[in-house]
Amino acid sequence: MPAPTDPNRVIVFDTTLRDGEQSPGCSMNQGEKLELAHALAALGVDVIEAGFPIASPGDFESVQAIARQVHGPVICGLARCNPADIDRAADAVADAARPRVHVFLATSSIHREFKLKMSRDEVVRRAVEGVKRARDRVEDVEFSPEDAARTELDFLAEVVEKAVEAGATTLNIPDTVGYAVPSHYAGIIRHLKQHVRGIDRCVLSVHCHDDLGLAVANSLAALTEGARQVECTVNGIGERAGNTSLEEVVMALHTRRDFYGLSTGIDTRHLYPVSRKLSNVTGMQVQRNKAIVGQNAFAHEAGIHQDGMLKERSTYEIMRPEDVGIPATELVLGKHSGRHALKQRVAALGYHLTDDQLNRLFDEFKRLADRKKEIYDADLEALAENQLQAGTGSVWALEGFTSTAGTGSQTSAAVALRHQDGSVRRDAAVGNGPIDALFKAINRVTGAQVKVVDYRVRSVTQDMDALGEAQVEVEHAGRRSRARAVSVDVVEASALAYLEVVNRVASRQLRDRLKPTDNVPTEVVPGA
Ligand code: KIV
Ligand code: ZN
Repeated sequence: MPAPTDPNRVIVFDTTLRDGEQSPGCSMNQGEKLELAHALAALGVDVIEAGFPIASPGDFESVQAIARQVHGPVICGLARCNPADIDRAADAVADAARPRVHVFLATSSIHREFKLKMSRDEVVRRAVEGVKRARDRVEDVEFSPEDAARTELDFLAEVVEKAVEAGATTLNIPDTVGYAVPSHYAGIIRHLKQHVRGIDRCVLSVHCHDDLGLAVANSLAALTEGARQVECTVNGIGERAGNTSLEEVVMALHTRRDFYGLSTGIDTRHLYPVSRKLSNVTGMQVQRNKAIVGQNAFAHEAGIHQDGMLKERSTYEIMRPEDVGIPATELVLGKHSGRHALKQRVAALGYHLTDDQLNRLFDEFKRLADRKKEIYDADLEALAENQLQAGTGSVWALEGFTSTAGTGSQTSAAVALRHQDGSVRRDAAVGNGPIDALFKAINRVTGAQVKVVDYRVRSVTQDMDALGEAQVEVEHAGRRSRARAVSVDVVEASALAYLEVVNRVASRQLRDRLKPTDNVPTEVVPGA
């Protein structure tokens, strides 16, 4: 990507679908990734890091689908510094209007000695080869010296200079383990700007993790030293404590333009809808007091504050909720609302549904409206999410169930599940409560052997007839998967969510069986 002509324009590089998606409980299927990528494009991010194509055939296909179908941003694929990774990433993004390959190699002494077992010279040689190979395939190549914040400054400058000579167009300086503090990190950027020949030909980028709660502060400090790309994720999701939160860094630049004098291409009114979409898709709730997009971010409880707000908003409010897309009033739909009103509201909530999905959504909406007087945005989001989850090649679908519960009696459940081959299979189980019995009955039919590590039920809105949402997280073969489902009946929502997670595990097993067997170095997949 050519550097923007405005020297004060910051490139927003979103890695929700790569660094974010790699974190436990945040995995998404291809349909969900595409939906999010469209939302990120509408938000105005400059670069979407769509995934790590060598990681699995599913990752490759998702990156390729995004490269083909999402227009506007640069589409980027991640690769380690080896030929197989780089070729796979370049193939995956090949059909994008503006493809980028992002190659990385660890440079810190800890990583060199214990992980890579490589000398400094070997690291430089591999980095140069990697950047050159990527440049043979695409014009736009980003290089990251992984764990840069803990790398000796002289060596970091050497690797980076060689990467520039080899043709890197963006140089990213990751604080992989969230070790940096603002003045230290800003100092690294300053040092590189002063000592690396040719650095002005490249965009300097920052990539921070939040282990010390400093990812946004570190990113902003680096921007004041001339970095012009910020790597971030929606809701700050990411490995361990997460990555720089997109909404926080963007709103800091926007709200304190007087101080930073920098701008982005983000349409801030999409921030809240995208945040909601991500948490609906992953089932990972945003903490109530999270800056910008948390439920309490604009709530004023104290009497003195409320009084001040009524007199003059700016007494206690530095941003307006509408600026980040929090709806001032919620449009309530009911059983007399038509298809058109529904379609418009769903689009306003940021959902990009096909006609078929919209038709099915309308039917579900009508069924819900028969059981529930008023339908709020949160209900519509839940229904729209159902549509995005549905029809993704599930092995099993719920035909029906019964469950009994009561004090003193043993609880039991019976299920009928439809297999994708069309047959309906039934079984029953007893358990420790109706949900336990239901999950066991599903296991008996599907043969699933998963361990439930988290199970939650919540009401989507506040009213008595609210939709209930169930979330289930399971562990299988050392990996976690999560799914959610909604229904006015929480037991049914639980069965649907459990079945969805069982389906996800089954399709992952299938994908893993199809994994490529290229001779890929066994260096760990970056969780960083
Ligand atoms: O944190 C990190 O170092 C990374 C790299 C792959 C850029 O995510
Ligand atoms: Zn990272």
